[in-house]
Amino acid sequence: MKVLVATSKPFAKVAVDGIREVIEGAGFELALLEKYTEKSALLAAVADADAIIIRSDIIDDEVFNAAKQLKIVVRAGAGYDNVDLTSATAHGVCVMNTPGQNANAVAELVFGLMVYAVRNFYNGTSGIELMGKKLGIHAFGNVGRNVARIAKGFGMDVYAYDAYCPKEVIEAAGVHAVDSVEEMYRTCQFISLHLPATDETKKSIGRTLVSLMPKGAVLVNSARKEIINEDELIQLMQERDDMKFVSDIAPAASDKFAELFADRFFATPKKMGAQTAEANINAGIAAAKQIVGFINEGCTKFMVNR
Ligand code: 3PG
Repeated sequence: MKVLVATSKPFAKVAVDGIREVIEGAGFELALLEKYTEKSALLAAVADADAIIIRSDIIDDEVFNAAKQLKIVVRAGAGYDNVDLTSATAHGVCVMNTPGQNANAVAELVFGLMVYAVRNFYNGTSGIELMGKKLGIHAFGNVGRNVARIAKGFGMDVYAYDAYCPKEVIEAAGVHAVDSVEEMYRTCQFISLHLPATDETKKSIGRTLVSLMPKGAVLVNSARKEIINEDELIQLMQERDDMKFVSDIAPAASDKFAELFADRFFATPKKMGAQTAEANINAGIAAAKQIVGFINEGCTKFMVNR
């Protein structure tokens, strides 16, 4: 049984060691394809793999066609928009994610980005503090809940909206549950985005919502760039010079944002949210254990293409 770790953005070594222990401990073979830059390398590596552990690596129809023995793909992380689920199902391959395993890492980075923004990107000028400010969490999943926990430590006033999460669950976490997404954007100077990229959410964060934000608005995107309507946000930021945008992933129009809003925009060149040793260990080892559980016991917990 061959398990391939295919990560163009590699895990910390300590995480790979942990994955190896689980995989080899189960009597399986581990193969590594790290830091690859060409798709051809991935296509060659998957040819004899029974299972693959990936991160944001694109697993499309071509990859499934090349992976003749493949039984399972585990995305070590939350978002699985990089995997063609229709093709996976057509090829009889089980796809899983590892929800929650890297959530704290992403949530901590949200505060790194927010502090960086409100301290004027450390340019030496006087900024503002987070304490007492209103933070709106858009989607209250694993990352959103961790953001809420940390925000309370900063003394922020925390709000959340999630179309799929009952208000009682949000309130039980000590967070204000709003009646509508518009109300949250109208109320909160800070908005942190935690939506997955789906047909429903792509380009959903644009003028209609962001223009409602109060003066001094700071929009933080640690989710996916696809959820932003970039043209509308650029237009809005041109009209509103009080507004800042910080993103853990360069938007498609990153150069334009940087050129127009040099002192109001920042994006990480590579997605950094889950890039901690702890998150790599948690997500990587969970992925390895899920593969062993699936192969040995047929366990399909966390399967996303049912
Ligand atoms: C996720 O969906 O889990 C995060 O965006 C992390 O993605 P990464 O593993 O590609 O860093």
